[in-house]
Formats: sequence, structure tokens, C-alpha cells
Amino acid sequence: MQTVTIKNLTKNFGSSVAIDNLSLNIEKGKITGLIGADGAGKTTLLRTIIGLLLADSGEIDVLGFNPKTQKDELNLHIGYMPQKFGLYEDLTVIENLRLYADLKGVTHDFDKMLEFTTLAPFQDRLAGALSGGMKQKLGLACTLLGNPEFLLLDEPSVGVDPISRRDLMKMVREMINPETTVLWSTAYLDEAHSFDTAVVIDKGKVIYEGKPHDLASTPQEFENKVIDLMGGYNKEESLIAKNYDYKAPDVELTVEADNLEKRYGNFYAVKNNTFKIRKGEIFGLLGPNGAGKSTSFKMMCGLAKPTSGTARIMGTDIIRHPAKARSNLGYMAQKFSLYGSLTVRQNLNFFALVYGISILKRKEKVDEIIEVFGLKEYEKCPADELPLGLKQRLSMAAALIHNPPVLFLDEPTSGVDVLTRRDFWNHITSLAKKGVTILVTTHFMDEAEYCDRISLFYKGQTVAVGTPKELKQKAGANDMETAFINLIKESEVK
Ligand SMILES: Nc1ncnc2c1ncn2[C@@H]1O[C@H](COP(=O)(O)OP(=O)(O)OP(=O)(O)O)[C@@H](O)[C@H]1O
Ligand SMILES: [Mg+2]
Repeated sequence: MQTVTIKNLTKNFGSSVAIDNLSLNIEKGKITGLIGADGAGKTTLLRTIIGLLLADSGEIDVLGFNPKTQKDELNLHIGYMPQKFGLYEDLTVIENLRLYADLKGVTHDFDKMLEFTTLAPFQDRLAGALSGGMKQKLGLACTLLGNPEFLLLDEPSVGVDPISRRDLMKMVREMINPETTVLWSTAYLDEAHSFDTAVVIDKGKVIYEGKPHDLASTPQEFENKVIDLMGGYNKEESLIAKNYDYKAPDVELTVEADNLEKRYGNFYAVKNNTFKIRKGEIFGLLGPNGAGKSTSFKMMCGLAKPTSGTARIMGTDIIRHPAKARSNLGYMAQKFSLYGSLTVRQNLNFFALVYGISILKRKEKVDEIIEVFGLKEYEKCPADELPLGLKQRLSMAAALIHNPPVLFLDEPTSGVDVLTRRDFWNHITSLAKKGVTILVTTHFMDEAEYCDRISLFYKGQTVAVGTPKELKQKAGANDMETAFINLIKESEVK
């Protein structure tokens, strides 16, 4: 039995082809993973399946409905979680759940949801005040309400921490019944490897469709196979690093924070934290959703005022001399924060201007960055309309356009495809070799291995700090994911 039958589907946006004569069946009662490069057409495909977008040609049948003409009837049977789920930010967690339950006509029985998402202690917090990953979990909980027959999840695990990611997977598997069909778009290939079927799309076409295990037996091999299918990644020297013309810091400690603290009412988002980070170091901040990573970054960049404590960038106090301190840093926010209505090129021009890149060098610099980050074909596209992974590329490009000696990257690789993830890390490690200091957060545990030192953060505090090897030893684990889980659980017991 098929839940979705697609024949020769084509969808163009102006002159660019998003879906190219694509045919695909999605089997009932199975979990199908949708994988593809940034801009490959995943979101367009999901939105066409539920009738939010109309195809230019081809046939499509979903649960016996034609999404083109029967969108409203079809909607009663599906649960769709878009990349940017529509939470009501000025309602609390529990009020959002109640609202979505009422919309779907189901009872207010949220205990299991709250337990799975670990949101129970925060049910009275405004959704707008949740961390990125907490929002994602709440969005999924709202989507699962009412046991829809067909679930379409557009990268639900973006920004979700490793422990919660396992819980989300469990949550979906346990909350659905054997008849439910799930179409799950993801950049986590270990996740896709565990599904019944994998569909890899590239430039709007299906390039692989089958059981993940038929492609490779282990998740790591699966990732390598998918990378090959997608055309391999760029192993060349990072051009960004090569052309990074910057003034090397004359201090050894480039980032220092003393007893940083951030309190909201009685709640400590960050509690009494001290960091000392050296020139050229890649310093990773890892931790569960809501641990206080972004809040720490924001305080160190002068974007949030600490309740107490101080931070210095290359010796300059960020609170007393914000302009001077900030001229030495680049910040990539977790949440997309560029100008949505400006095009890619306009955004970059704007940042080049703000950061004082001389008019003579500006065009050259913007051209280079557009080229290196693969943004050429999108340069005239308004930033808001970019696929998620391309938004991340643009944000990263904007953060380093002025060649700062210190970079804060808050989940730079969340939502980017597996090839671009490797590309980003190529830039990061090459920049660090040149002496650029990099502070980075990530929920990809394989990326943690690239860090020189890691601080594991939980409930606003450092629970462990050291090299990846030291942390693994401390946790008695062979891999970072197990180390992460063990160390967090240990600190929970304490
Ligand atoms: N304005 C606010 N009012 C109340 N609590 C807040 C506010 N802003 C942030 N918080 C809380 O501070 C805590 C830390 O949030 P932060 O965004 O720093 O977490 P994070 O470690 O970056 O998480 P993630 O991995 O999900 O990005 C969370 O519990 C969050 O809900
Ligand atoms: Mg964060």
C-alpha cells in the first residue's frame, strides 16, 4: 500500500528547476528518510505533497486525495512540521499545546509529551523564551497531537541535542501506530540509516531510493556512500583561510570570561562561568538544549548583558568598551538574523560596509565570499527565501567578512547538508591554524572531535572541560556521543 504516489512531478521557480520530473512512492506504515544537499528540493517536495505548493506538471496522489484540488480534506489526515514551526511565542509551552490540541479536536493529555520532550519543568515558560532546541521539541510535540495518519517532518532534529534526538526518535516511534506513514527530512545520516527507506534527492531528482542497509551496513559507511552519491565534498585548501587578511592578536588569551552569570527572575540561564581561551584555539561548547550555550556566547559578544561577571575580547572589556571589543569579533547567531528582504549580495555588501571594508576592496571581498560559500546562483535571492542550509552559509559568510581574529559560531552546521558541514569545518580548522580563535557550539558529536578543547555545559554550568580525548577518558567512552551522554547523566546524579 502506498501513502503517496508521485509521477513525473515538475516544479519550477522562475527559471530554476526545484523538482525535475520526479517519480516516487512512499509506502504506508513506513518511516522514509528524505536526504539531499541544501537546495536539492526537499522542502519543495514536502510542500507540494501537502498542497501548499502547486506542481507545474505531473501527478500526485496522497492518501487517495489530490493535493492540488483537495488540500483541505487532505489536511485533516496529516501532521506537518515545517522547518520554522508556527509556535505562538507569546503563549507558554502548555498554552501552545492546548491550542494545537483544540485545533485538532483532541483531549488535553500532555503528560507523555512533556516527559519525552523534557519540557515539563518549563511548561509555564513563554515559547519565545525557549532555547532553539527546546522550541524544536515543542513544535514536534504539537505536530504529533491527534495521531495523524501521515506525518511530514521537515528536519525536526535540527538543533536538537544528542540525548533529546534519541528521545525524539523514540517519541515518534512510540506515539505513532503501525499504520502511520512518516516522511522525515534530515541532514543526520545516522538518523536516516535507522529508517525503513532512504530517498536521496539531488537537483530535484531521486538519485537513490531503497533500504538504507542495502547501501551500507553501518551509519558511518552510509554517510560516506551518500556523500559519494551527492558528488563528494571539496577537499581543497580553504580559500577563506588562505585569503584571510587579519591582524594577528598580540595577546595569548583572546577570550576571557570571569564568573559570567545570567539570571531571569529566579532562573539561572548561566551560572558563574569562567573561560580562558587561547589564540588559535577551537573551543567547543557542548550541552543539552537550554544548557545556556547561546546565552554565554551572547554575553561574551556584548549582545546580552550579564547579571554579573565580565568578559574580555583580546583584553578589552566587552561591557566597558563594546565597540572596540566587537570590532575584533565575528558572531554567527543560532537563529537566522540577517536582513530577510535584502538579497544575498546586498546582505554581504551591508556587512562589508558596516565593518569598514574599504570601498576599493568591498566588491572583491564580496565576490570572493559568494564564490567560496557556493552562493553564486542565489546572489539575487532575498535571504528569507533561501533554503535553510544556504541561510547558514550566508550567516557564516557575513560573520567573517571583516576577517576578525575571534569568531563565535553558534551551531553553524545546524541544518546544513553533510557536504557543506565538512566544508565549514575545513574553513574552521584552517582559520584556527592561522591563529584565529574560534568558539563554536554544535549538536553533531563527530564535529566535537575537531575541537581542541570542549566545555560540556549543563543547566548553566560547566560540568567537564578538556580535550575530546580527555572527556572520553573521563566518561569511559570510545566516542563523543557516549561521553556526552555519560557525563551529563553523571552530573545529573550529583
Ligand atoms: N528571556 C528569557 N526568559 C526566561 N528564560 C530564558 C530567556 N531567554 C533564555 N531563557 C532560558 O535560558 C536557558 C538557556 O538558553 P540558551 O538559548 O542559552 O540555551 P542553549 O544551550 O543555547 O540551548 P540550544 O542547544 O537549544 O540552543 C533556557 O532554559 C531558556 O529557556
Ligand atoms: Mg543555543
